[in-house]
Amino acid sequence: MKLVLASKNKKKLAELNDILSRLGVQVCSEAEAGVDVEVEETGTTFEENSLLKAKAVMEASGMPAIADDSGLCVDALNGAPGVYSARYGGEGLDDTARYRLLLENLRGQMTRTARFVSVITCCFPNGDVISARGECPGTISYAPMGEGGFGYDPVFFVPGLKKTFAQLSPEEKNAVSHRGKALEQFKTKLEEYLKKN
Ligand code: IMP
Repeated sequence: MKLVLASKNKKKLAELNDILSRLGVQVCSEAEAGVDVEVEETGTTFEENSLLKAKAVMEASGMPAIADDSGLCVDALNGAPGVYSARYGGEGLDDTARYRLLLENLRGQMTRTARFVSVITCCFPNGDVISARGECPGTISYAPMGEGGFGYDPVFFVPGLKKTFAQLSPEEKNAVSHRGKALEQFKTKLEEYLKKN
């Protein structure tokens, strides 16, 4: 079976193919499916945005489509930046400016607990939907540490590993990350779906 990934991110495509090829599932890019879809992420939950993206690409391509929506939820900020993680502080900021703003907004704050969330949704042309959610709990460090990863990785500290996400290898990060967990759950659900259909 072939799925289209509702994203322009080549790293996500490789990661998905790596995991899903074991089920005989091939994931292709929007370009390979002949579509270029811009979806406005108007939802207020990861589930809504993930579904919006997968549904739009499924409708444009006529093929089953998969999307993920993810972000960082900080308890002391009532769950912010949440679904707005990629846009925190406005469109003009880069990753470094965004995590600096987060540290600034938590200055003097002793409650540092947070979690990364990822929701993966797959929409089929017959109306079937499969979705999976993964969470990774952690704390926001007082200063950035590590060079790896992207986004908020340098300030997301995993107490059990005593390292930030940016200090982990990609394999170590995938083993505990929100996206790794959501993907594993998604793989199991897709496997069950394929057996029945
Ligand atoms: P999305 O691509 O719309 O799901 O936006 C996700 C945003 O959440 C990214 O731009 C990052 O700012 C943040 N994010 C999600 N997952 C991670 C991660 O694993 N590490 C660091 N930041 C992440």
